[in-house]
Amino acid sequence: MAGEIRVSHVDLAAQYAEEREDLRRIFDRVMASGQLIGGPDVEGLEADLRAYLGVGQVVALNSGTDALAFALIALGIGAGDEVITPPNSFVASTAAVIEAGARPVFVDVLDDQNIDPGRIEAAISPRTRAIMPVHLTGRVAMMDEILAIAARHRLRVIEDAAQAIGSRHRGRFAGTIGDVGCFSAHPLKNLNAAGDGGFVATNDAALADQVRLLRNHGLADRNTVTRFGRVARMDALQAAILRYRLGRLDSIVERRRRNVAIYHETLNSNLVFVPPERPHEFIAHHTLVVQVDRRDALRGHLAGLGYGTAIHYPIPIHLQPAAASLGYRRGDFPVCERQAERILTLPIHPWVAEADIRGIARATNDFLGAG
Ligand SMILES: Cc1ncc(COP(=O)(O)O)c(C=O)c1O
Repeated sequence: MAGEIRVSHVDLAAQYAEEREDLRRIFDRVMASGQLIGGPDVEGLEADLRAYLGVGQVVALNSGTDALAFALIALGIGAGDEVITPPNSFVASTAAVIEAGARPVFVDVLDDQNIDPGRIEAAISPRTRAIMPVHLTGRVAMMDEILAIAARHRLRVIEDAAQAIGSRHRGRFAGTIGDVGCFSAHPLKNLNAAGDGGFVATNDAALADQVRLLRNHGLADRNTVTRFGRVARMDALQAAILRYRLGRLDSIVERRRRNVAIYHETLNSNLVFVPPERPHEFIAHHTLVVQVDRRDALRGHLAGLGYGTAIHYPIPIHLQPAAASLGYRRGDFPVCERQAERILTLPIHPWVAEADIRGIARATNDFLGAG
């Protein structure tokens, strides 16, 4: 029987312990201000994110899911249109395409789990309007190739950068390379709110204006509704927490990168596939997803030693019951389907002790080596 999990792949209580006094002061200040939706904290966060990402427009929202849906809707993508995207994301990227009224068209992935640009052109039809790469785990998809295909076929590029705040590709931040980047500030993300949150980043001012309308009932001013929208604003409390945590993001990322480096050093590369960082990349690791044989048995073994792991994601989206009407079948995306049986997320959060990382890596080597 598995013992108690001592090291988990997330530890929000440890984060709170480190930030407690500061967060309490923030709570007090925002509550006393009485400005709980919109206002200076939200505008301040948008300005800080513009400066951090080096982008012209940021619109703060209540989730990464709405960031994706609004980006599509603001670009005029909807009924009758197709959007190319990978099938191994968190469900929200595909769900956003459905919410916009368009059809997701899946393309298989590379060994690093990101969309395979070599397969995109075969999936383009006269109805294709956009490519939505997902920068899974924090690793930026092959953006040079994706942008070239998009330019050739006059397609929009919507980056799902929900997991990739702080990652860079040839020096440019994830989420600022295509037409629009969509970010999540969910509690489990590297830049995390104390609840749901998200934002879009773009250099397209007209697109940002449409997202601003969509997040706030379509109100252009207090009494004028220029398009029907809904409510998807970020709370001031979340914005204030995110401003504070944005100031700590680089150090969080460095601590995660250091932990990943220890795994690279300790894991036996003959037994465990860890996608490497390419020379033009800087990965702000959200998760470390390795690929192994006998994944489920290894997971049980690690749990028995007190090491918690996760699987991101065990069921590809095209095989989910909700996707039945899209008409895909098992076998359509063999790389993604095989990865779903081999992927394992190891703990890399900043509060894991180095000894535990080495312990997890050695236990993994021993278990797989003995198989
Ligand atoms: C790849 C990806 N896309 C979209 C989302 C949706 O973000 P949110 O949970 O903030 O709606 C997430 C995270 O949850 C994600 O990991």
